[in-house]
Amino acid sequence: CGIVGYVGAQSALDVVIAGLKRLEYRGYDSAGVAVLADGDLVAAKKAGKLVNLEKELVGHPLPAGSTGLGHTRWATHGGPTDVNAHPHLDNAGRVAVVHNGIIENFAVLRDELAERGHRLESETDTEVVAHLLAERFESCGDLAEAMRQVCRRLEGAFTLVAVHADAPDVVVGARRNSPLVVGVGEGENFLASDVAAFIAHTRSAIELGQDQVVELRRDGVTVTDFAGAPATVRAYHVDWDASAAEKGGYDYFMLKEIAEQPKAVADTLLGRIDANGSLSLDEVRIPVSVLREVDKVVIVACGTAYHAGMIAKLAIEHWTRIPCETELASEFRYRDPILDQRTLVVAISQSGETMDTLMALRHAREQGAKVLAICNTNGSTIPRESDAVLYTHAGPEVAVASTKAFLTQLVACYLVALYLGQVRGTKWGDEIDAVIRELSDIAGAVDTVLETMEPVRELARSLADKDTVLFLGRHVGYPVALEGALKLKELAYMHAEGFAAGELKHGPIALIEQDLPVVVVVPSPRGRSVLHDKIVSNIQEIRARGARTIVIAEEGDLAVVPYADHLIRIPATPTLLQPLVATVPLQVFACELATARGNEVDQPRNLAKSVTVE
Ligand code: G6P
Repeated sequence: CGIVGYVGAQSALDVVIAGLKRLEYRGYDSAGVAVLADGDLVAAKKAGKLVNLEKELVGHPLPAGSTGLGHTRWATHGGPTDVNAHPHLDNAGRVAVVHNGIIENFAVLRDELAERGHRLESETDTEVVAHLLAERFESCGDLAEAMRQVCRRLEGAFTLVAVHADAPDVVVGARRNSPLVVGVGEGENFLASDVAAFIAHTRSAIELGQDQVVELRRDGVTVTDFAGAPATVRAYHVDWDASAAEKGGYDYFMLKEIAEQPKAVADTLLGRIDANGSLSLDEVRIPVSVLREVDKVVIVACGTAYHAGMIAKLAIEHWTRIPCETELASEFRYRDPILDQRTLVVAISQSGETMDTLMALRHAREQGAKVLAICNTNGSTIPRESDAVLYTHAGPEVAVASTKAFLTQLVACYLVALYLGQVRGTKWGDEIDAVIRELSDIAGAVDTVLETMEPVRELARSLADKDTVLFLGRHVGYPVALEGALKLKELAYMHAEGFAAGELKHGPIALIEQDLPVVVVVPSPRGRSVLHDKIVSNIQEIRARGARTIVIAEEGDLAVVPYADHLIRIPATPTLLQPLVATVPLQVFACELATARGNEVDQPRNLAKSVTVE
């Protein structure tokens, strides 16, 4: 969910709505706002996207006020209805609260409140907070203190923002787990889940820590812990400007982000490879002596980041000979994984706030493992709680389906693998040097792919009425196939599955029927040529059974030509780096299919970009 709060001299409603637009990627099931106007609290909320709320506000305008808050929701407790939308108010309508997360003990709190005569109207866990805040404010008369008292009663993950009609010019926030950032202005202050919400007004930000309460007034910001003791916070300057989060002439953010990939890749490499071709990853504050002792690497991530992790496993094991496993973060801690001081856990997350990944890394640290985060969001929770962080420099990614963040995650994974190889001096030293050289130039190869995408778009449009598309790959091509299938599910709402091509004959081949589109990612014929030959056989097997083959193969690979109904060429790269170029056509393919099917590209149904619940 996305949260915005404002106090200042401007129209709170305008600031909040503009902020919510920037946060809609975080959830778009419903939206709502509340404003303090002449000693009263007025609120509006609506199921569906923000535009529904905007229409409602045109029909029923709210009185003007300069203190307010807003919310854009990804439903957890209670369906996406008007009633369940945030903000939630107490019975007297004096306090409004918005929330991101899940309050685990809400049933107990709800029963207690009901016994004390409160009427709760929604199915949400959030409503209890509004009622509790109203009670506590009545007894102490201080909204920040009331918030601290309430937070001490709450269990689970919660980020809250509240206003009270009897506390004009005050906005209060509380943070546990999901992010909350203060934007510091002149005579005005902001609160939001992400700096994007206030970047048009100020680039000066304060990051709130875990279990902190903030009180915002026009002329000041006070931060305490839940007990009321003053807290130390980190102030920082946001170094990208508002235009970085604009569509910049593209129809969709996703198209812009796909196009930005060469730059994102180059930026992520920048300053990390020196003139001698050595890696200098100063940010990785884990001492080299500790890295030399690492005897196991475990990668945890979700969604697209998990696919980057699968590729990282192959790179790490090959270049470092350290056993490496990649695991879905949501599965990790529940199986009692074997971890100790010599385990390096790599947590990959674009947002840095995915709750599944956060919980996995917390579990790893409790067991004594060192955690390195690969993350795209400065100061987010996952890097804060890790021993070290390697930032990807993709810039803000707004479209829900990840594209440029994925490519930069891959780059960061290669850097980690190569760095581990370098500090440990493996027998692949020469190969490592050669790969580092090729990696330095890889942005150009991504650019080349982007320039040749028109036939892919055409092909996608011609498949708009299909029900199923399958994706096959081997080695690094397998996670690429999974990513291609995931993109298609997310964006085109089609049945899409990725398989390891060798596994096809053990079951999935039964799915092949006349004219079924099957995308095959073919490894480079150089290097591991046995693998290449095997997949050429796999293509023949499916074609013999009627599949319509869409083959992604390296420039100059002639062996695939007779069996490809559609051939998509990608530049030659070292085997392990191929996903950087092979994924791009699959992103374009999914994006175009979604458009052809009339789907919303940037905000696919049911999804959210940052999933801050487990
Ligand atoms: C959500 C998004 C996915 C993303 C995943 C992990 O499910 O919809 O696109 O890959 O979260 O996100 P992260 O921010 O941790 O990389």
